[in-house]
Amino acid sequence: MILRLERPEDYRTVEELTRDAFWKNSRHMCDEHLLVNRLRNVSSFVKELDYVAEMNGKIVGHIIYTKSKVEDGSGKGYELLTFGPLSVSPEYQNTGIGKALMLKTFEEARKLRYRAVIIFGHPDYYPRVGFRPASEFGITTADGKNFDAFMALPLYPGALDGITGRFFFDPVYDNLDEEDVLEFENTFPHKEPFVPLSVSLLLAHLKPEARIAIEGLRIKHLDVMSHKSEAELSALPGMDAQSIDIVRKVLAEYGYRWGR
Ligand SMILES: CC(C)(COP(=O)(O)OP(=O)(O)OC[C@H]1O[C@@H](n2cnc3c(N)ncnc32)[C@H](O)[C@@H]1OP(=O)(O)O)[C@@H](O)C(=O)NCCC(=O)NCCS
Repeated sequence: MILRLERPEDYRTVEELTRDAFWKNSRHMCDEHLLVNRLRNVSSFVKELDYVAEMNGKIVGHIIYTKSKVEDGSGKGYELLTFGPLSVSPEYQNTGIGKALMLKTFEEARKLRYRAVIIFGHPDYYPRVGFRPASEFGITTADGKNFDAFMALPLYPGALDGITGRFFFDPVYDNLDEEDVLEFENTFPHKEPFVPLSVSLLLAHLKPEARIAIEGLRIKHLDVMSHKSEAELSALPGMDAQSIDIVRKVLAEYGYRWGR
């Protein structure tokens, strides 16, 4: 596997790869490929950390970073990094590419003297490379929330010491217009729209107490279960080890890796 900086001639291939990787994680329409396209043009984009993974001359993975910040109570801001989307071609997933892209770019980020990386992502995947819930560092989302999918990774020991407050990232992540997404999507070869799978496919397998617990989350689609960590589900009244195993198995049946 070769890990190297993305080049302008890779842009379209990387957008296709992103679209393929996220197709089954998109509710209404996949917008992650437009996000990548936009991210390369925002002022917070960090081109030195825009990496692809190549296997036998084919691009099979990509990671992209922007500068973000944590602002403390007095309004003082601390510059940090955020990555995403992180994409691996479906045929190459679970072969170490995602991990390799992260480890390589963390090393480069350290050389560039960044302190830490903060992300929103699969809460049981990213701890494998050292991420911890942001709550452990006294960092909340911009609106003061914490949940396991909101995570931080100091790039060196003590890098986040004394840095607490609210997290802000580039508004491009939250501001993709639906018409722009559709227009962009139409420039790619047709792909059968992904119909999100109902969470009832999971509920049907659970005993009543566990079903009530999951219903309480008000999650409609199976893929959104990946926003919750195994620890968060285990803490719900009515969820026991057997129910957690059922969640893991049912999600796996539909192609979603979930849990520790
Ligand atoms: C999520 C993703 C980036 C992971 O990259 P990858 O190269 O497939 O994963 P790696 O090879 O680095 O890691 C594989 C290991 O992590 C585990 N893993 C993968 N996804 C996981 C998840 N969502 N939750 C928990 N563990 C997960 C695998 O089971 C495997 O475990 P093992 O080593 O014990 O067998 C990749 O699968 C992907 O592009 N998915 C679709 C798009 C996406 O969801 N991107 C991330 C958004 S936050």
